Amino acid sequence: ALKSIARRLDLKAYVEQNPQVNQILRHAALRYVAGDRLPEGLDAGKEILRRGYSLSIEYIGENTSDAKECEQAAAEMKALIQQLKQSGLPGRVSFDLSHIGLMISPSLAYANLTELARQAEGTEIELFISMEESGKTDRILSVYKQAAAEYSGIGITLQAHLNRTPADLASLTSPGRIRIVKGAYQEPDHLSLARSPELNERYLNLVELAIRQGHQVSIATHDDAIINAVRDRGLLSGSQAELEMLYGIRPELAKRLRSEGNPIRIYVPYGREWYLYLCHRIAEYPPNLYQAVIDMVSG
Ligand code: FDA
Repeated sequence: ALKSIARRLDLKAYVEQNPQVNQILRHAALRYVAGDRLPEGLDAGKEILRRGYSLSIEYIGENTSDAKECEQAAAEMKALIQQLKQSGLPGRVSFDLSHIGLMISPSLAYANLTELARQAEGTEIELFISMEESGKTDRILSVYKQAAAEYSGIGITLQAHLNRTPADLASLTSPGRIRIVKGAYQEPDHLSLARSPELNERYLNLVELAIRQGHQVSIATHDDAIINAVRDRGLLSGSQAELEMLYGIRPELAKRLRSEGNPIRIYVPYGREWYLYLCHRIAEYPPNLYQAVIDMVSG
């Protein structure tokens, strides 16, 4: 909801035209975002790797309906892959398909995705597709399945809160890479579960099912209840599962889990559209609004 308000108010133009607002909001966003540009994303990524975590990195953007902007986004991701390759850094490049063409046509998203896949082939670099609103799930899964049948190293995110997800997971019969999240979007009640113990139980069942199906699973959450259950059930002890957390969210927890020997991946976003990313983080956890205000006034 916050994001659609941001879009309707044309926050992008407002932020770009008001340097003072830009500066204040940006200060709050920097808790969660590495910076505006690729070198800042890479520097933060190197630091994450140096501290013993695995790395995901995202060039922020979504819902791009201008073909030229989709090309620019794909070009930025190619440059990111190239830089990771040149620096010998293992990393996972994450993105929304709606940033590289899905809003125009699934075939454009597929063409851009497979071009990125060709560039990453033969390296340790993975490509990881984020999951967006339920209205896009069929198209995202279809592009993913088509590309993953041709290229290894492409992963997909599934949202535990959607009622359809157990069936979607069952439909992914070839072992691959899967990230399981609760889901960041507001969805209608008849399609989804709200945050609840029932959702956590579904989340854990999905993780167990994905492991049984032979997938490499990223358990992407900051929820103590899920993390404790995952550890109690021994799901992190094999080589098939890891925890994945967002940059700047519960960093002390990530540090403790890492020091206890658990495999942890940190998801580092960068890019000029950081204000949308900030809206996401506030929407999924409203107390972040207070934190953002504190960050803004202390800037
Ligand atoms: P939940 O929201 O129940 O929060 C549990 C606890 O974690 C909170 O009580 C709080 O302590 C802490 N917490 C959670 N969010 C916080 C925040 N923003 N700030 C501070 N503390 C917070 N979603 C999606 O729809 N599509 C996608 O592709 C992705 N991709 C993705 C990748 C990765 C690596 C992660 C970690 C998450 C995503 N998400 C996502 C977001 C995901 O769906 C979900 O909104 C967030 O992870 C928050 O949910 P939790 O599982 O942490 O639990």
